[in-house]
Amino acid sequence: MVKVKKIVKELDPYVPGRSIDEIAAEYGLDPDKIIKLGSNENPMGPSLKAVEAVSQNIKFINRYPEANLKDLTENVASYSGVSPSQVILGGDGADEILDVMGKTLIEPGDEFIVHIPSYMYYEFTLKIHGAVPVFARWDVAQNRLDVNSVLEALSPRTRIIFLCTPNNPTGGLIDKKDIIKVLESTEALVVVDEAYFEFSGVNNVELLDEHDNLFILRTFSKVMGLAGMRIGYGLGNPQLIEYMKRVEPVFSLTRLSHIAASATLNDEEYIQRSTQLGIESREFLYKELSKFTNLDVFESKANYLLVDTRKSGMNSEILTEKLLKKGIIVRNCSSFRGLDDYWIRVSVGTLKEDKKFIETLQGIVD
Ligand SMILES: Cc1ncc(COP(=O)(O)O)c(C=O)c1O
Repeated sequence: MVKVKKIVKELDPYVPGRSIDEIAAEYGLDPDKIIKLGSNENPMGPSLKAVEAVSQNIKFINRYPEANLKDLTENVASYSGVSPSQVILGGDGADEILDVMGKTLIEPGDEFIVHIPSYMYYEFTLKIHGAVPVFARWDVAQNRLDVNSVLEALSPRTRIIFLCTPNNPTGGLIDKKDIIKVLESTEALVVVDEAYFEFSGVNNVELLDEHDNLFILRTFSKVMGLAGMRIGYGLGNPQLIEYMKRVEPVFSLTRLSHIAASATLNDEEYIQRSTQLGIESREFLYKELSKFTNLDVFESKANYLLVDTRKSGMNSEILTEKLLKKGIIVRNCSSFRGLDDYWIRVSVGTLKEDKKFIETLQGIVD
């Protein structure tokens, strides 16, 4: 065997949500009947304008994509209310931008701070670059950030601080004043992850003007309905963006993802409807889940809800398995740092899917 880097040998593989085909094969189910509420995707399907644009351009996939992506960068800048020099695009979603951030900022032994529970990929990807995680606290019972735990975790080796708002998997928002407090307490990069901001109606773009150390991370995988195309973007200070572009893959976006992203951004009606349906579904699920006396559900500002299963007498593995057998995928959160074995995360579905999920859940836990 060739010599593999120590850090790679020691890495725990990242566990993503499970796919429809994988579940269908394992449980002998019809893939078309499976309801997937496991990965915070968009249940509406993509923008039809994006589908049309992709079909028209499929015949050009023999050609390399654009490298400079000027039009999409301008489009994203205008959607976000910033200038194009403040935008970076990522062709494996927001996840690629996290990797590029690691390449740009991390020397082995540097630290990053992440509140737990939160999105697990920060830790996974930065560790590959030799960074050391330092954990701060998200108060799950109150569904809010313990901002003091972030400030206490700061050290001269801190290079990045992650603040996820709405937080995945809890759905709570971080107060703007707490974000400012962190920004003003450090010269490290503060990454405010707004992957789900459209569902919350809140964003932090205006803070970019005053804070050079702010970076906002976003994605086309949620409200924009393009998870399968893998497109993310980041907003930050032009100098940092320029450094990051030096190390990101030259052809980061494929031809088709570039086209799909542009067409979706130009389809304002889709974005509006998609936001509205996500919110309606979340509120419906919250109302219905609140009626279960043996489950506790948390209020959320995103397109998913975190549920505590312990009063049902079932841990998340058992409950997830029972739902899978009935063709419903939810996220078992037992592998999330900061949560124990009694949490599931349920993503929004169409109203029909939501109703079927609630009915099925009643049959299992009532
Ligand atoms: C909080 C958060 N940030 C970033 C991402 C990554 O998004 P992408 O699909 O663009 O890689 C996700 C994906 O689920 C997420 O939940």
